[in-house]
Amino acid sequence: MKRAGRRTTVLKVGGDRSEVDVIDRAAQVLTCGGLVAFPTETVYGLGANALDPTAVRRIFEAKGRPARNPLIVHVASVAAAPAFVSEWPPEATALAERFWPGPLTLVLPKADTVPDVVTAGGPTVGIRMPAHPIAAALIEAAGVPVAAPSANRSSRVSPTRVEHVLKALDGRIDLVLDGGPTAGGIESTVLDVSVRPARLLRPGPVTPAQIEPIIGAVVRAAETPTSPGAPLGSPGLLKRHYAPRARLECVTGSGEARTRELVQTGRRVGWVAFGRPPCGEAGATTIVMPTQPDAYAARLYAALHELDDTHVDWIVVELPPDEPAWLAVRDRLRRAAAPDTQRANDLDAPEHT
Ligand code: TXA
Ligand code: MG
Repeated sequence: MKRAGRRTTVLKVGGDRSEVDVIDRAAQVLTCGGLVAFPTETVYGLGANALDPTAVRRIFEAKGRPARNPLIVHVASVAAAPAFVSEWPPEATALAERFWPGPLTLVLPKADTVPDVVTAGGPTVGIRMPAHPIAAALIEAAGVPVAAPSANRSSRVSPTRVEHVLKALDGRIDLVLDGGPTAGGIESTVLDVSVRPARLLRPGPVTPAQIEPIIGAVVRAAETPTSPGAPLGSPGLLKRHYAPRARLECVTGSGEARTRELVQTGRRVGWVAFGRPPCGEAGATTIVMPTQPDAYAARLYAALHELDDTHVDWIVVELPPDEPAWLAVRDRLRRAAAPDTQRANDLDAPEHT
């Protein structure tokens, strides 16, 4: 891994060098134990060889990630997945056939081949086959499964552009593959199929309405660990997560009155409006979001990064409608808005880790 202060190499895919060259170089970094950030169809991931515990430990160091938060293992084909689990039930076959490659992570009992550091010592492993051609080519060329969380510092907003990755991790990782902005914008759905009925651990682009016709009813997971210090069912369930530096507040309906009120108290305010551009000048940095769920998701993290970059100290977000199509977006907004104290209770990690 690079020492802090040294810069991370950025390679543009589709730039001057041939694509095969770029992918091969990145694959070599992975097989030599290095860290490579790469685009997926959801967000940028921070990858290491999943079978190399030393390399995987570097992911935790680079991100400041608590050791009890497990990583997703990324594979290049459906056929590659069963080698990393001890049971591959028919439900997994049906879901992988329907949704892979794509933004669905399946949690299953882990095989002994998967190092404990990947699963945070837990008995299950999350596996997904990403759809982005750069991610797919990288995993294929490396010839190993790739453990990859989102390429941000722990508990912060996930990166959807290469500049977001560099802002958080420049000098801490070896290489970034620049594949432009990611299309999806929100992390994969995490579904625990090691239990019956299956449990939705993190809502995402693949919705319960799409999953249930294939494997039957899916239940929403509980939000908190069963006992203090116990491994988390899914740390994506932590209340505060995906958070910008500024305080984020969700409002139902128009955020104009709240924004004006905060501006009047001397705050530097960001206003994330839902569709309708504000009428008057409220004295806030304003971003108008799309009103269609996929387009909103694709824009959300970039909007939060932009507002953080302008050093606002309070962000007012107008909530999208409370409807199934908005489940994943509302989940991320709710977590970004949770007070720091909740996070301090949930994680033995300092703020701004
Ligand atoms: O879209 C995505 O999933 C991105 C891209 C890079 O693939 N990855 C991602 O990884 O979002 P990460 O680590 O930021 O989030 C993975 C979530 C975490 O909430 C983690 O706790 C949960 O999945 N998870 C991973 N393995 C698990 C397991 N064995 N059991 C329960 N939850 C698990
Ligand atoms: Mg993450």
